[in-house]
Amino acid sequence: MAATGADALVHAIESYVSLPANPFTDALALQAIRMLWTYLPQTYAHADNLEARGQVHLASTLAGMSFSLGGLGIVHSLSHPMSARYGVPHGLANAVILPKVIAYNLPASTEKYATIARMIDPSLHSVSMQQAAKTLIPLVEELMHSIDIPQDFSHLDHHFTDEDIAQLAEDAMNDHGTVHYNPRKAVKDDIEAIYKKVLPVNIDEKIYH
Ligand SMILES: [Fe+2]
Repeated sequence: MAATGADALVHAIESYVSLPANPFTDALALQAIRMLWTYLPQTYAHADNLEARGQVHLASTLAGMSFSLGGLGIVHSLSHPMSARYGVPHGLANAVILPKVIAYNLPASTEKYATIARMIDPSLHSVSMQQAAKTLIPLVEELMHSIDIPQDFSHLDHHFTDEDIAQLAEDAMNDHGTVHYNPRKAVKDDIEAIYKKVLPVNIDEKIYH
């Protein structure tokens, strides 16, 4: 429930800031985000709340309509190889990666991230657009925490080498259905840097030194 719900939220946020976004996808995405923010934690906390669950299903469909018209971005580019190579459930991979990609995309999507943040927390109308946009990162982290999404992939029983990360980044760059629609043009080095923020690396050093 948490993983698929978070996937719907990622669909909405990615399509809202994607390059092909337009007023139709904006409307669908913002409404989906608003509904998921309210009802996903409620559904997760109370699995028998069918009213909340119904709202999550509707929001998921709105988000699907948004990304089928507006495309996705590099959250999905990075998550697909994590699922294909390491078996991470799709929504879980997206959920872990999302805050890092918002941080990466901030300079390219400041206004839109600020719009989302201010919709969630209206008090952010009193701070600058840059500050409001940046605040979306802890807001998303808080939401993910409330549905027990981990902050990184340290639960995977795998020590990621530079070669592993290079391979993942190459896969991500070849995810042509998503990578080209990201609001900030990403090169392989950027993708590797984002992976390194969420993958357990240098585990041996941490343990033995
Ligand atoms: Fe997805």
